[in-house]
Amino acid sequence: MRYSKEFFDLQIDFARAAVALIDMPIERALLDYTNIYVRFGLGRDFDQDHPTWRCYVDGLSQAADLCDWTYRFYLARTEASQPQSMVATFGCFSYAKQDAKCVRIHFQNIEPPMVSPLSIDRLPVRLAELRSLFDHVRRNQPEATRVAGTSWLYNLRAYQLCFPKGYMASAKVAKSRFRNMPLWGQFLDRNGFVRIDIAEDFLQRLSNVTNGRDLSLSFPLQALAVEPPIAQFYGLYGIEHDQRMSVLRTGE
Ligand SMILES: CC(C)(COP(=O)(O)OP(=O)(O)OC[C@H]1O[C@@H](n2cnc3c(N)ncnc32)[C@H](O)[C@@H]1OP(=O)(O)O)[C@@H](O)C(=O)NCCC(=O)NCCS
Repeated sequence: MRYSKEFFDLQIDFARAAVALIDMPIERALLDYTNIYVRFGLGRDFDQDHPTWRCYVDGLSQAADLCDWTYRFYLARTEASQPQSMVATFGCFSYAKQDAKCVRIHFQNIEPPMVSPLSIDRLPVRLAELRSLFDHVRRNQPEATRVAGTSWLYNLRAYQLCFPKGYMASAKVAKSRFRNMPLWGQFLDRNGFVRIDIAEDFLQRLSNVTNGRDLSLSFPLQALAVEPPIAQFYGLYGIEHDQRMSVLRTGE
């Protein structure tokens, strides 16, 4: 997906606010308070000495317009972007191995432009994708006892409907996700454009922040982290598994 320039502009506004509130150079704020490093396809090490990041930062000082420079740099990098290392993908959902006992699920829209992936019409398709995903997990990650997810999406009823009823009980606000899509994704629609109303709300909140510690309050929705037992998922999607093994592994 190619993201719109407004998505980058919004993040640069946030980085500038961080510079004004916290004593740090703009390149540090762009690294720590935006998703731009990831969008350049540089991975998740956030290495300020990465040659591509250095090239971007060096260009900042010569750029007449920081936003234009950033977007041009992004467009030039789009082809080179690398996806995260996922074990398997089923439609909008994929998973990665967090460790031997935990799989991490991710969501990315793959529907055509006119179709809302979270609409009630598409719920049966989403559930079928998750059924296939957890069937794959059961067969290929037999040691997995927990499912981790972190996203602003867990705030949405439309997203919650895809998952077992009890799974939100484990939800906690995931702090300091300024570098990550699980926080910034809330400003995007399914086609990569910025949602004007949500962005305006954000900028309004941002203008009221007077302390760097409160920057997260600018975001209308927080990223939520969940890590429920995998047995809940097997139950919802009708996947047979060995309950006794699950109990022994989780100790629950
Ligand atoms: C997830 C995503 C596809 C939803 O975009 P969309 O299909 O255009 O969303 P829709 O306008 O059809 O909205 C679907 C529902 O979510 C709600 N919603 C969507 N964005 C919202 C937001 N930022 N705040 C509150 N509610 C929101 C809508 O109100 C709607 O709810 P309803 O069905 O109860 O009316 C889009 O935000 C996206 O691609 N984001 C970037 C990727 C991302 O965040 N991935 C997760 C990373 S962890």
